[in-house]
Amino acid sequence: MSEAATIDDHRNPAAGSSAYFSVRNVHAYYGESYIVQGVSFDVAENEIVALLGRNGAGKTSTLRAIARTEQPAIMQGEIWLNGVAIHPMKSFEAARQGIQLVPEDRRIIAGLTVEENLLLSQVAKPLGWSLERIYGHFPRLAERKQQEAVTLSGGEQQMLAVARALARDLKLLLLDEPYEGLAPTIVREIEKILMEVKELGITTVIVEQNAIAALNLADRALILDMGEIVFDGAAKEVLEDADLRHRYLAI
Ligand SMILES: Nc1ncnc2c1ncn2[C@@H]1O[C@H](COP(=O)(O)OP(=O)(O)O)[C@@H](O)[C@H]1O
Ligand SMILES: [Mg+2]
Repeated sequence: MSEAATIDDHRNPAAGSSAYFSVRNVHAYYGESYIVQGVSFDVAENEIVALLGRNGAGKTSTLRAIARTEQPAIMQGEIWLNGVAIHPMKSFEAARQGIQLVPEDRRIIAGLTVEENLLLSQVAKPLGWSLERIYGHFPRLAERKQQEAVTLSGGEQQMLAVARALARDLKLLLLDEPYEGLAPTIVREIEKILMEVKELGITTVIVEQNAIAALNLADRALILDMGEIVFDGAAKEVLEDADLRHRYLAI
């Protein structure tokens, strides 16, 4: 591997990749457990990429490595967003670069209203959307802004989680199982919101057990198996390849 980038090459695009977002040979560990085993992929600006694979394949770990959470730790590899080296950063620095992770549990803060949850996202600079703009796009959240956020339905909580990402400076949205536990009609509502987010120029990586829904939304698909990428191509290709789906997605 090449030498890890230093703070000085943070803004040296020549040191990175020509892709908008690039994960280059990333190896990540939880303590001694070697989980992400040399993952590489590129994402174009404004693209929606579905990151798929069986339970335990390493999807959440890959998203966490990109968002630079404490665990798993990156031991090798590089992550670049628009010419900025993300791999040397801590999670708050990656967030400041516009990388926002919406984890599976959605991290809605108990004891706070919908509006207070949104305001909390605006404590850290740079700011994203105003509350007014968010409520314009999420009328359900506007109606419920004074409601305690944990009393929202699952679908509304997912909307709030996406809205919170938009309240910060959002460039790369990382979604971990956004459709989990949601009825099909609610999944369609969230899909509509994610298409709007795309139309606004934001780039998205979506991890989803509901592979068909994710493939219908996505431009491209990546399949992860045992910590390695085993497929990288058009989402349509996966929809049309029953063998591939059966082998790696069990559908
Ligand atoms: N905090 C952790 N410590 C140790 N191993 C972990 C931890 N979190 C996940 N793993 C392991 O990493 C592997 C990949 O997990 P994960 O990334 O959650 O997969 P997926 O999201 O694809 O289901 C699994 O074998 C899991 O047991
Ligand atoms: Mg997971």
